[in-house]
Amino acid sequence: MYSRVFIFVLCIQMCLFYKIREKKRVCVIGAGIAGLSSARYLKEEGIDFVVFEATKYIGGTWRYDPRVGTDENGLPLHTSMYKHLHTNLPKPTMELRGFPLPDGIPSFPSWKIYYDYLKDYAKHFDIEKYIQFRHNVTLVRREQNVWKVTHEHVITGEVFEENYDYVIVGNGHFSTPNMPNIRGEKLFKGTIIHSHDYRVPDVYKDRRVLVVGAGPSGMDIGLDVAECSKSLLHSHHSKVNFRTPFPPHYVRKPDVKEFNETGVIFVDGTYEEIDDVIYCTGFQYDYPFLDKTCGLDIDPHSVVPLYKYMVNIRQPSMVILGLVVRACLVVALDAQARYATALIKGNFTLPSEAEMMDEWQRRADAIRSKGLRMSHIHTLAEKEDEYYAELSEQSGIERVPPVMFKIRAMDIEAKLENLYTYRHYVYKVIDDNTFVRTLEKEQINDTLVI
Ligand SMILES: Cc1cc2nc3c(=O)[nH]c(=O)nc-3n(C[C@H](O)[C@H](O)[C@H](O)COP(=O)(O)OP(=O)(O)OC[C@H]3O[C@@H](n4cnc5c(N)ncnc54)[C@H](O)[C@@H]3O)c2cc1C
Ligand SMILES: *[C@@H]1O[C@H](CO)[C@@H](O)[C@H](O)[C@H]1NC(C)=O
Ligand SMILES: *[C@@H]1O[C@H](CO)[C@@H](O)[C@H](O)[C@H]1NC(C)=O
Ligand SMILES: *[C@@H]1O[C@H](CO)[C@@H](O)[C@H](O)[C@H]1NC(C)=O
Ligand SMILES: *[C@@H]1O[C@H](CO)[C@@H](O)[C@H](O)[C@H]1NC(C)=O
Repeated sequence: MYSRVFIFVLCIQMCLFYKIREKKRVCVIGAGIAGLSSARYLKEEGIDFVVFEATKYIGGTWRYDPRVGTDENGLPLHTSMYKHLHTNLPKPTMELRGFPLPDGIPSFPSWKIYYDYLKDYAKHFDIEKYIQFRHNVTLVRREQNVWKVTHEHVITGEVFEENYDYVIVGNGHFSTPNMPNIRGEKLFKGTIIHSHDYRVPDVYKDRRVLVVGAGPSGMDIGLDVAECSKSLLHSHHSKVNFRTPFPPHYVRKPDVKEFNETGVIFVDGTYEEIDDVIYCTGFQYDYPFLDKTCGLDIDPHSVVPLYKYMVNIRQPSMVILGLVVRACLVVALDAQARYATALIKGNFTLPSEAEMMDEWQRRADAIRSKGLRMSHIHTLAEKEDEYYAELSEQSGIERVPPVMFKIRAMDIEAKLENLYTYRHYVYKVIDDNTFVRTLEKEQINDTLVI
């Protein structure tokens, strides 16, 4: 009798348990790498979810569009891709888990190869049917313990609103330009664009071009333009020791002081006549749809407070993916998507808000005490591998192997050595801790090949 009652109670409890679990609904914002990988893992776990994507395409920034500004419907173009782009990280670090890039492609594939890879990924995991294309999420707010998500069909203008238990934000953060606003810009008679709108170098043929900024875009676009421009002035204050043998028409300049009609005056007082300017001054974090009730403090250069660089501490049923810099972003996104899925699945529970806040506060204090800007709160750099270890330890997801971090470190060295040749190296993973680096076949001096 006793045991019968026990079993009865257990049954009821299990039914309730499953009912609650069944009801869990997840909203994923964006169908770039963040959204696609989230979709794959949520699907594998049988979790109820939907992906909203503002465009009619998957792949986010990896889809090149020759146009700038707006598309055929007058909608803003999200992509920052340019025609000649090849990845700036080698093949193994660009692969999503369990889905290798094809054999026989370059070690640093073109955007086209990579974009095709993402399309194959979506097809392979049969993800498209979960995506509502042309649905622009316009508002996410927290109300009575649910997420109220408003989205709008970008063509018909029809507005929808639903409730969700979890929100995974994957709208990317390489789309909203960070403009430096330099004195005299309005006087300048030449062209000024931001790297978001850079597409092809041809338009700079035989012109005197100024590139501002020495991040990955600044270096890559600078060299792309220098292939055909008459001169390439590169203004930046990077302390990095670039040992690249730059061509004679490439000239390093300090920061820009101001423009006038015909050119630019630098902070060292020198003046140069120029025709065109490309600002490679980075992007701003932009989450126009996140309402105050989300509990995040968002400014153009930081999003806080986040636990493990992704969980919204004040509302931990929201995660924001991809907010790590100086890391293998694709591999990190894949791990974050798995961590988020494991969290939603209930595989682990987060620490209390106070504990999460404490951990975050310690990182924030360390940054402040070094006199650094709060934007550093998103920097992984030498902490990258430790981060992957922590994510796995806590959530039980498979660990991103240390070899990824090691490859990235060697690639950084190769970039410092020579930006023209770092893509000639091929990196092959041997095991979780080791890799070999060789030269791509075309680069091997024939006399050395037996
Ligand atoms: C020029 C360039 C080169 C890069 N090169 C490399 C590289 O070599 N290696 C590397 O690892 N990384 C590189 N990156 C970083 C790149 O951003 C990541 O590889 C990756 O694409 C990020 O994916 P994501 O899903 O976070 O964002 P995105 O690819 O930006 O995708 C976001 C998606 O969300 C959609 N969206 C935005 N807002 C909304 C909304 N409100 N409602 C609905 N949908 C919305 C967008 O339309 C888009 O499809 C590069 C980035 C740029 C810009
Ligand atoms: C999405 O909505 C925002 C307003 O919330 C708007 O600024 C943006 O242009 C829209 N994007 C698209 C692609 O319709
Ligand atoms: C811009 O400033 C430089 C340096 O002061 C000067 O030589 C040049 O004539 C100025 N151009 C115009 C159009 O005023
Ligand atoms: C959650 O745990 C189950 C059981 O251990 C495991 O099979 C599954 O892969 C885990 N899910 C994630 C996303 O880690
Ligand atoms: C190849 O190697 C030989 C012998 O070391 C050398 O003479 C030749 O210049 C090299 N060729 C190239 C293209 O580097």
